Amino acid sequence: MTNYPVNMAVEPEVKAFFDPATHTISYVVKDPASSSVAIVDSVMDINYAAGRITYDNADEIIKYVQDNNLTVEWLIETHVHADHLSAAPYIQQKLGGKIGIGEHITVVQDTFGKVFNEGTEFQRDGSQFDKLFKDGDSYQIGTMTAFAIHTPGHTPACMVHVIGNAAFAGDTLFMPDGGSARADFPGGDAATLYDSIQKVLTLPDEMRLFMCHDYGPNGRDIAWETSVGDEKEHNIHVGKGHSREDFIKFRTERDAQLDVPKLIIPSLQVNMRAGEVPTDEDGVPMLKVPVNAL
Ligand SMILES: [Fe+2]
Repeated sequence: MTNYPVNMAVEPEVKAFFDPATHTISYVVKDPASSSVAIVDSVMDINYAAGRITYDNADEIIKYVQDNNLTVEWLIETHVHADHLSAAPYIQQKLGGKIGIGEHITVVQDTFGKVFNEGTEFQRDGSQFDKLFKDGDSYQIGTMTAFAIHTPGHTPACMVHVIGNAAFAGDTLFMPDGGSARADFPGGDAATLYDSIQKVLTLPDEMRLFMCHDYGPNGRDIAWETSVGDEKEHNIHVGKGHSREDFIKFRTERDAQLDVPKLIIPSLQVNMRAGEVPTDEDGVPMLKVPVNAL
């Protein structure tokens, strides 16, 4: 991990917002030395059955930012989520900031551009985003220097963002008793995910780790914060005593039994466009359902 500019002396203030509908945790990450913040993995609300989109979650974050006089510099997407819709453009419109995702978004756009039979007006070059991060890229949030680690496996474009002594894991890891995310989406791969997780686990043991999802396994309360040391010791899929081979076998067998996420169809269409809802030829917001294509 020596290639990454780890600085444990910087301790950002982290405010979490939990969305019970999708079990997603969004974060406002504040520079202790200024009013600057990054917002990580925001959520737009959808009633898919009714085709209705609302912004209660995002409005809560917007209110928090405004009440505390914060300045949004970044809207970070850890990856193209398949289980919830991003509210990044809605928040950007109200509060500013740049929307950033991993550079391999282009691979995801290419894959799902085909699945959704998108026309040439759907750009597959990531240009819907303000910033495409490469592995090791750093960026500023006020006085803090943050950086991104490319962690493919769950999806090709996944990144873990490290801000001072706090890392935002996306779906690379779950809480120790939750293990890891599935690796069976197009472009996903269990072996690649294992290797990405190992990369994250070379961060300092004291690094705070914040999850993108938690489902409260075995009836425990929802939680979202752990540490690299805790994951190394206790993660039920990749912690102490679990080999790469065991992980690949377990992950592959488990994924074969998992249902498709309820919101995958609207999520992918919106999130591969940086959170913009697609429109039909008349400019009317419209989502598609590809038949037998996923
Ligand atoms: Fe995900």
